[in-house]
Amino acid sequence: MGLHVSSHPLVLHKLALLRRVESEPKKFRELVREISQFLVYEATADMPLAPYTIQTPLGSMEGHAIGARIGLIPILRAGLGMVEPVIDLLPTAHVWHLGLYRDHNSLEPVTYYNKLPAQPDIDVCLILDPMLATGGSAVAAVDILKAWGAAKIKFLGLIAAPEGVERLQNAHPDVEIHLAALDERLNEQGYIVPGLGDAGDRQFGT
Ligand code: PRP
Ligand code: URA
Repeated sequence: MGLHVSSHPLVLHKLALLRRVESEPKKFRELVREISQFLVYEATADMPLAPYTIQTPLGSMEGHAIGARIGLIPILRAGLGMVEPVIDLLPTAHVWHLGLYRDHNSLEPVTYYNKLPAQPDIDVCLILDPMLATGGSAVAAVDILKAWGAAKIKFLGLIAAPEGVERLQNAHPDVEIHLAALDERLNEQGYIVPGLGDAGDRQFGT
């Protein structure tokens, strides 16, 4: 329930290229961009619509606009690469960055940037983070958004481990998870296997 793993052939094709060690940062960023657009297309299939009257060259008719205020919540750093492709498709979305990193020893998330305004100004939050590993960062992000007052939250990720999905679903069963792939497991260092390595490092060449 609430877990959507894309089976679209284009997603699978691009995901294989993304995982390959040969994909250097420029190629990697392009693929993050392309897959993110497929993911947000699937994740917004249930968005409410607001009808309004438009004029075509041949007459008037009822058209539709997206009827929800959408907020994008990229998790720094790696979620940054998903912002531009998603906001290209949702140009009126607001972007609220959250800075979280995993402590290398405990693997628990540490929050270092949060400038959310006092009151939520959006109806739907889309958390953008390529990797859902132990799930600690995603749970912390949802905790922050719920404490802020966010009503509806979805998580968009490229690759997850079963451990991370389970942790997020146990903590926040109401949060839909949209993924390009669900992998086998975590290794001893908390990396997703087979995964793609470190999504931040691979995007930014670090
Ligand atoms: C990565 C990734 C997630 C987190 C997932 O970020 O982008 O935010 O790890 O791991 P988790 O599910 O075990 O919490 P990282 O901490 O490596 O920071 P970075 O994006 O700045 O490299
Ligand atoms: N963060 C990453 O970037 N990759 C992983 O495999 C796990 C966490």
